[in-house]
Amino acid sequence: MTPKYMRAKSLPLTDECHHWTKIGEVPWDLQKYWQQRYTIFPYYDEGIRLTNDAWFGVTPETVATRIAQDMGQIISPDKTTLVDLFAGVGANTIAFAQSGIWGRIIAIERDAATLACAQHNADLYGVGDCIEWVHGDSFDVLKYLTSPSAEDDDDAAAVKKVDVSRTALFGSPPWGGPGYVTDAIFDLSGMEPYNLATMHAAYRRMDHALFLPRTSDLRQIARLVPSGGPKIGVVQYCVKGASKAMVTYIPAQGEEGNAVKSN
Ligand SMILES: C[S@@+](CC[C@H](N)C(=O)[O-])C[C@H]1O[C@@H](n2cnc3c(N)ncnc32)[C@H](O)[C@@H]1O
Repeated sequence: MTPKYMRAKSLPLTDECHHWTKIGEVPWDLQKYWQQRYTIFPYYDEGIRLTNDAWFGVTPETVATRIAQDMGQIISPDKTTLVDLFAGVGANTIAFAQSGIWGRIIAIERDAATLACAQHNADLYGVGDCIEWVHGDSFDVLKYLTSPSAEDDDDAAAVKKVDVSRTALFGSPPWGGPGYVTDAIFDLSGMEPYNLATMHAAYRRMDHALFLPRTSDLRQIARLVPSGGPKIGVVQYCVKGASKAMVTYIPAQGEEGNAVKSN
């Protein structure tokens, strides 16, 4: 049986939630990322917090803002709920909340310290209260959110189920280390810990956008829909002229790969 999921109240910041102000405080392997802190979070000095791991995967603010705008353009307007499946320290979630496009934003993160940073950062941006935070594994949480039973909705503390036909997903998964930097074409079937097929199988009933390495194999992405099926969008996102990542926008499909029509 799927466990019931509760909205995560503000989790406490821990020793893992850092705000470094001097390079001497920063572990040597993170110093080059910390040097880019104002590109990542222009308001870093307001007290932005990150866990060590988050520095490797956080989305720079300009990119997060642009993705949030594009989601509003590319995903059909009848989608009113957005689920950020891998919230990290909140850069994308904050941009989605700032965009004002979504009636409901659910942000899921399985690491408690990282989620505490995201909640803290969203509060600094003044959007923390617009977001429903969930602490858990997003594959399990998504099953819960989209399961037909509505009985848990009677529990005021539980996260309310979503209407699948009005929900879009955003996924910025881990990429499995820095191998993508050297690969001329990144093999999405080998991406760790979740490969493209695993994610697509879990998300296919809903429009979903995946934030992937810039060199991701476009043929593997194209094969997600049958020929003549719905069109997939791919956008490269650059900072200072260099691509940081691509986002692939994949329309919802029925069981046979047909596009699910929006009303
Ligand atoms: C690349 S980071 C996301 C970065 C985020 N977009 C940001 O800008 O901060 C991936 C995050 O997914 C979390 N994660 C990994 N597997 C998860 C899962 N199954 N469910 C929820 N979170 C997960 C990791 O803890 C990590 O914080």
